[in-house]
Amino acid sequence: MGMGNIGRIALALHVLFASFVLWVVPVHALFLADLVVFPVSLLVALRDLAGRWPLAAPEDRRRRVQERQRQRQQDAAASTALREAGTDVQRRRTAGADKPAEADRPAEPARQGARSRAPLGRIALLAVQVALFAMVLDSVYRPLVAPAEDVLVFRAGYVSHDTARMHIRYPGPGPLELRYRPLAGAGGGGGGNVPWESAGALAAPTGATDFTVTAALANLQPATRYAVELHSRQPTLHAATVRLASAEFRTAPPPGTPTRLRFGTGSCIKPNFPYRPTRTPDVYGFASMLEHSAGLDMVMFMGDFIYADVPLYFGPEPAAYRRLYRNVYAAPSARRLMRRVPMLYVYDDHEIKNNWHRQDQPPMGSALAAFDEYNGRPNPPPAAPGVAYYNFTHGNVAFYAWDTRRYRTRWESAGGGGGGSSGGPEPTATMLGAEQKRHFARWLRDVNHTAAVKFVVSSVPVTTGWANRDSAQDTWRGYPTERAEILALTRHVPNLFFLSGDRHEMAAVVLPSGNIEFSTSPVSQFTFPLVGSFRPDRDGERTLHFRRPGHVKYGILDVDTATDPAVPRVTYSLYTTDVHRGRRPAWVYEAKGAPWR
Ligand SMILES: *[C@@H]1O[C@H](CO)[C@@H](O)[C@H](O)[C@H]1NC(C)=O
Ligand SMILES: *[C@@H]1O[C@H](CO)[C@@H](O)[C@H](O)[C@H]1NC(C)=O
Repeated sequence: MGMGNIGRIALALHVLFASFVLWVVPVHALFLADLVVFPVSLLVALRDLAGRWPLAAPEDRRRRVQERQRQRQQDAAASTALREAGTDVQRRRTAGADKPAEADRPAEPARQGARSRAPLGRIALLAVQVALFAMVLDSVYRPLVAPAEDVLVFRAGYVSHDTARMHIRYPGPGPLELRYRPLAGAGGGGGGNVPWESAGALAAPTGATDFTVTAALANLQPATRYAVELHSRQPTLHAATVRLASAEFRTAPPPGTPTRLRFGTGSCIKPNFPYRPTRTPDVYGFASMLEHSAGLDMVMFMGDFIYADVPLYFGPEPAAYRRLYRNVYAAPSARRLMRRVPMLYVYDDHEIKNNWHRQDQPPMGSALAAFDEYNGRPNPPPAAPGVAYYNFTHGNVAFYAWDTRRYRTRWESAGGGGGGSSGGPEPTATMLGAEQKRHFARWLRDVNHTAAVKFVVSSVPVTTGWANRDSAQDTWRGYPTERAEILALTRHVPNLFFLSGDRHEMAAVVLPSGNIEFSTSPVSQFTFPLVGSFRPDRDGERTLHFRRPGHVKYGILDVDTATDPAVPRVTYSLYTTDVHRGRRPAWVYEAKGAPWR
């Protein structure tokens, strides 16, 4: 095979791999493959350009040298001819002729063509492949190059009827101060401006927590919209304090009261995917959510907020994980959205590593610490000290958010076929662990007839519709015994819905228990091209809707337990930027409510 062919193949592969990593699926193996084929393609291109190749066979080189010499002689002959023609023209001009004769012209274009036509095309091709490679490096290494160390975060996490948890990241000098007041005309402040109240001084966070801290506001009015400001108490020449940031939230109605609640759900984000050359990478799904943020009480984000290992794992140190969180929080749309909408989080595997099932083994420690600093601590109080799963109520709507990662039976110890991470869990394996399952069962009994609507948040889908190898091991499909136990528990619980994400596809499914699951993702990530992995209407399930394409997909749930207190209404709307540019829903489903008391 000649060098030309090798070059063409390497170039084709480089364009293919790079495009895949940038715009289709950022696969680790394809990134590595591109690291190999790009240098080959580049060397061949450079050698073509220079017209010589140090590693070429001697005859090859000799032939090229001869060719070059011939070319040079031709060039020399051409320019001599041209010079003579020029002198000729000069002579004629001097003699009074205004224009060169027609016969003098052809020499010039021929000379230019020989010199520049081929190199220009090659230079353009070279520029394109270098640019592609630069974009790949940028998309993969941006967190290292721009670690967003100075990013300031100010957002609300869990907001109850009388408290709010504010999440702060501030790498500057303290002390800090929170000020808050009801927003005028928003159900709290009446007409005029209510004076600011101070929540007191707060020590500036330190590097020990990557400059993050969670502060609580207490004694708030229920069902009231509040404005909050973060101030630095470092006096300047002009003021005693400096306002650093502001945020808003609406408090929940008192526990147990009928309500109207509107919240977003989704999972999986990678900043700047699909790739665009930009100075400030954004999260495109958050940009779309922002358009609907005015009425949102919160967003329930169901995991894969960072991709610790896609397409490249940066290592098990806390610093590597923290950097990725800062990268998301530095995205302009993330900042704008979180200023207006409280965010609640659960983690999934990519906050740790793909398909995590190794419980507390490294790097779980680092991963959990960074998750806590950025997403976990402002969540509702955990069910027990040291765990991440939690439950809370908003009026008479109850939520339970599972931890589906930390307590899974380890696949090696599960034995099964083959062992190791390729073997997968055995059928009797647990996903929730005994403790969490017990607590969940108690909660279910408690809310059964005290909450009008219940939402159970699972990072991975409960439906068995996703049946490819990865889903068969990693989702509830891989844990059939425990799944059956859970569905037996939820079967007769009125108005209970499962919310999940993870698969980068959307499905709404009536489970064998009669409960409906809305599985929605990605907020901003790839979808597999061409083929979906979802098989509808199997195993006693009924599929209400399935949607594969769309780099941006998320759901908005409208819950109304107030209009008819006996029978609640739950409406799910799917948004994707592929349909109506995300301005109107692509699909709406109004679930039939059941009497719940
Ligand atoms: C969570 O559920 C448990 C069990 O029902 C209950 O005792 C506890 O009060 C709930 N926590 C919150 C914050 O609602
Ligand atoms: C919920 O209530 C229904 C109807 O009373 C009952 O059949 C079911 O067993 C209850 N479920 C739980 C988990 O308490």
